[in-house]
Amino acid sequence: MTQHHPAERIVVLTGAGISRESGLETFRDADGLWSRHNIEDVCTPEGFRRDPMLVDRFYNGRRAELAGVQPNAAHLALAELERAAHDGRWNGELLIVTQNIDDLHERAGSRNVLHMHGELRRVRCTSCGATPEWLDDCLPDTPCPACHRPTLRPDVVWFGEVPLHMDRIQTALAGCDRFVTIGTSGTVYPAAGFVAEVRDHAETVDINLDAPQIPTLFDRTLVGPATRMVPQWVTELLGA
Ligand code: APR
Repeated sequence: MTQHHPAERIVVLTGAGISRESGLETFRDADGLWSRHNIEDVCTPEGFRRDPMLVDRFYNGRRAELAGVQPNAAHLALAELERAAHDGRWNGELLIVTQNIDDLHERAGSRNVLHMHGELRRVRCTSCGATPEWLDDCLPDTPCPACHRPTLRPDVVWFGEVPLHMDRIQTALAGCDRFVTIGTSGTVYPAAGFVAEVRDHAETVDINLDAPQIPTLFDRTLVGPATRMVPQWVTELLGA
């Protein structure tokens, strides 16, 4: 039995920009979520303690939006790349690390996905730790389906909290040959620091709608909408 050695291991880091053309808002674009909501109020543990109803309503609104949007060509292209590895059409390995809490990668067909900031379609019980899938509204008095206490919160990582799956992410970054970021402003750590960790051993590519304002640490920058640039990048990779 020979150990499978993929020719290349790719880690893709996605941000809100990959879901923009599906109709979900980003955070820091002019019309983004942080132009209408105060991060301290809706994206910190203190904000949740202060006003759990405000925070629950913020996430209920975003969860409800999921039902009305579809994965776009960028999500689908990444799912196609993972399928090509599975079918042996590409001798590589793909891990998607996403900062997004939407489920569009999964709905596009991707399986190897790590949500480092949690998931909209789950809630977490702060009493018993259950993280049930949750597609409806969740309010401060909604009982936990496991322990029945009214102690549910969005299963999302807020500012000041520890991102998820960091051990697996660090291992994948240490062993990758290519690191590609798609639709992220590169302003929130630890995700923003990944490129510095890999640039000595991996080819680094940034895909973004806007050209970088200052020189970046990336070897290549592909400027354009994700729905055009990601399929182009995947086609180039599979064609090589
Ligand atoms: N195609 C490609 N990139 C796009 C597109 C598009 N159609 N539209 C916008 N972008 C780019 C923007 O230029 C910007 O660089 O997507 C990026 C979105 O940046 P942010 O709004 O900061 O989103 P993100 O980088 O994912 O934020 C990281 O911050 O608030 C926290 O937890 C939240 O996960 C989020 C984290």
